[in-house]
Amino acid sequence: MNASDKQTALTQTPEWQALAKHREQLGAVQLRELFEADPARGSGWALRVGDLHVDYSKHLVTDETLRLLRELAVATDVFGLRDAMFRGEKINTTEDRAVLHTALRAPRDAVIEVDGENVVPGVHAVLDKMAAFADRVRSGEWTGHTGKRIRNVVNIGIGGSDLGPAMAYEVLRSFADRELTVRFVSNVDGADLHEAVRDLDPAETLFVIASKTFTTIETITNATSARDWLLTGLRASQEAVAKHFVALSTNAEKVSEFGIDTANMFEFWDWVGGRYSYDSAIGLSLMIAIGPAAFREMLDGFHLVDEHFRTAPAESNVPLLMGLLGIWYGNFHDAQSHAVLPYSHYLSKFTAYLQQLDMESNGKYVQRSGEEVRWQTGPVVWGTPGTNGQHAYYQLIHQGTKLIPADFIGFAEPVADLLPGLVGQHDLLMANFFAQTQALAFGKTPDEVRAEGVPEELVPHKTFKGNHPTTTILSKDLTPSVLGQLVALYEHKVFVQGAVWNIDSFDQWGVELGKVLAKRVEPALTEGAEVPGLDTSTQALVAKYRELRGR
Ligand code: F6P
Repeated sequence: MNASDKQTALTQTPEWQALAKHREQLGAVQLRELFEADPARGSGWALRVGDLHVDYSKHLVTDETLRLLRELAVATDVFGLRDAMFRGEKINTTEDRAVLHTALRAPRDAVIEVDGENVVPGVHAVLDKMAAFADRVRSGEWTGHTGKRIRNVVNIGIGGSDLGPAMAYEVLRSFADRELTVRFVSNVDGADLHEAVRDLDPAETLFVIASKTFTTIETITNATSARDWLLTGLRASQEAVAKHFVALSTNAEKVSEFGIDTANMFEFWDWVGGRYSYDSAIGLSLMIAIGPAAFREMLDGFHLVDEHFRTAPAESNVPLLMGLLGIWYGNFHDAQSHAVLPYSHYLSKFTAYLQQLDMESNGKYVQRSGEEVRWQTGPVVWGTPGTNGQHAYYQLIHQGTKLIPADFIGFAEPVADLLPGLVGQHDLLMANFFAQTQALAFGKTPDEVRAEGVPEELVPHKTFKGNHPTTTILSKDLTPSVLGQLVALYEHKVFVQGAVWNIDSFDQWGVELGKVLAKRVEPALTEGAEVPGLDTSTQALVAKYRELRGR
């Protein structure tokens, strides 16, 4: 099948049709039956990648399902596109860009070319520059305008220039220099910056302005306000900016226009998508927090999974498996969402990070050819740390009417510096982790409920149908490398799905319209200006807003 055929005919391919037929034949297959039929399923249906043990036994699949899904991957040329990505080909066709986040964690001696130029030396030159700067801040050698040591780092960015480093800082807090205060500001709501700086001494504060384009209105507005706050607080003029502001960007011209010395700019490249960028210069705040060595360990973790995705056979390729399972539920069971449920407090921002990674990548209805898809694409990704979720929305996962496949992520060891008195809580946390996937898969039959002496009228209420599919990802501990492994796993899972659906997972045109309209509407709020073409509902709301603000 050639590429153009694929664009119109995904659901007509023999591989898709075979899956649809197989789905019909499987009908309402029960996990209980699958486990009874194969006593080795529980122990045998697991894969290992790096430090991650990935159990996929609790899925509504048979060997045949997995074989058919892998055939779909072959038919849709997932591996061809994967290899093209790793080679640096311009697979982001709507922006005519290579997609090379994998180069950000490639070893020094790797050769990866874009337009005939090996990009790896440049990647390591920036990493080295970041490391030198991070060391200077961490050691106190880099001082602010008044000569005081930097004790606070405030990252200002949004989307990929915020979610990645903010999530990773949270995950790796126990590896961070606890003497440093590190905060992340993203929202253009002034409250975000206010809360981040209100108790800080400007003389001790470094602002890291993270923006690939350096034109994002939220970031530039917050950076401008931060600069005013700093200069007012220090009673200093523009020259103080050099010691308190650094930039992470691809746009040297705009950085310099803002007044940041380009010597204090850490560069990255147009072949790094925003949501794939926190292992580039965008990770500087994180690197300052955890130190260059831990940051490099994290990159090694990413690289390990990159190599696995690039080379592992289809049968044992974990990102491939996770991507295909998502397709099985989204396209053949009408599942609309996918929950990611970490059993680690440190992963509290992980799912929010994945929302951008997955939903900005695969929230598309247009194929690479420009034609509309005729199949479902990316799921709604959601979730929070599991134990809290258990007391909130798990009711719906257990007994609601929707199929919600879920990933459970847990760790055998608590983090290294947990107070000794709290270590004992870890087994309780993990008991919940294991109990939930068990309950979701196998439920509780009416007979089991009756056997507990439950009155007949309550039996339906206390019955759990089970059959809710989950993947369990278990690792010994949560280290920088393990975080890198986890993120790369999801990056490549998203890649697999986008490849099968034939969409460009690396552009994000869908966020543009709102940005343009916000610019048009703003003068209506501030000056009451007429905005041509404004619909009547929005006009009325703007008028109400002005009235409420006494304008
Ligand atoms: O709003 C979409 C987006 O372009 C994201 O893809 C990106 O991560 C974010 O905005 C921030 O962009 P920038 O780093 O250029 O400020």
